[in-house]
Amino acid sequence: MTTPLLEIEGISKRFGGLAALSDVTAHVARGEIVGLIGPNGAGKTTLFSALVGLHRPNAGTIRLNGKNLVGLKPHKVAAAGMVKTFQNIALFLDSTVLDNVLIGGLMRHSVEDARELARRCLDRVGIGAIADKFAHNLSFPERARVEVARALCTEPQILLLDEAMAALNPVEMDEFLKLLRDLRGEGLTLVVVEHHMRAIMSLCERIIVLNFGQVIATGTPQQVSRDPDVVRAYLGRSAA
Ligand SMILES: Nc1ncnc2c1ncn2[C@@H]1O[C@H](COP(=O)(O)OP(=O)(O)OP(=O)(O)O)[C@@H](O)[C@H]1O
Ligand SMILES: [Mg+2]
Repeated sequence: MTTPLLEIEGISKRFGGLAALSDVTAHVARGEIVGLIGPNGAGKTTLFSALVGLHRPNAGTIRLNGKNLVGLKPHKVAAAGMVKTFQNIALFLDSTVLDNVLIGGLMRHSVEDARELARRCLDRVGIGAIADKFAHNLSFPERARVEVARALCTEPQILLLDEAMAALNPVEMDEFLKLLRDLRGEGLTLVVVEHHMRAIMSLCERIIVLNFGQVIATGTPQQVSRDPDVVRAYLGRSAA
């Protein structure tokens, strides 16, 4: 068996007395689209933040291509090939779309080369025409694509998407899902956090379910949606 692209082993993260992640072990193979789901507060964003070096875990290892990333700063993790988008979109609103995206390219390239790369990334996500628009003028679907373009501009092997589709209507969501499938077709590996079950179920071949910071199930969409622990986790919270 080939080594997984991403290997997460025994990751724990505490915030004071709160165990946000407890002994999380999971892997992602090259070329997969994996869903990461769980009720609010389950630890999804915390796991992403730990993966990209924004939170240092209290225990565990994170390997990308066999290299341990724990302790590296986010820009080093990005240089190693893994980036995440932010749950709350964090664009520079007074800058153009192109400038927002080229930031991602400055890690590896000169400003000129980053600008060229940014243009290619914008074309790749289908918004080359709005390169000169100011970020504060964007629609939700445009913003979501700018976030993806900025992440692509770091030339990642694996992209972590944290609720990138949250503000999209069903038609916009379908278009965004097509973009993600296309990116995967070009060789990108994706881990997607999303509360919209229809989107996750149709997009992902494998789903990891977190609840109270622990992995409670891993499997195909059909397997996890029938898993009694998963059903209980979701019903328990919504009934509360
Ligand atoms: N910086 C922080 N300091 C203290 N507690 C935090 C911090 N970040 C997250 N938490 C807590 O850790 C737990 C996991 O939060 P996290 O944001 O990872 O959940 P989530 O699965 O992303 O939820 P959502 O679906 O609502 O985005 C929650 O109880 C949250 O309140
Ligand atoms: Mg979150």
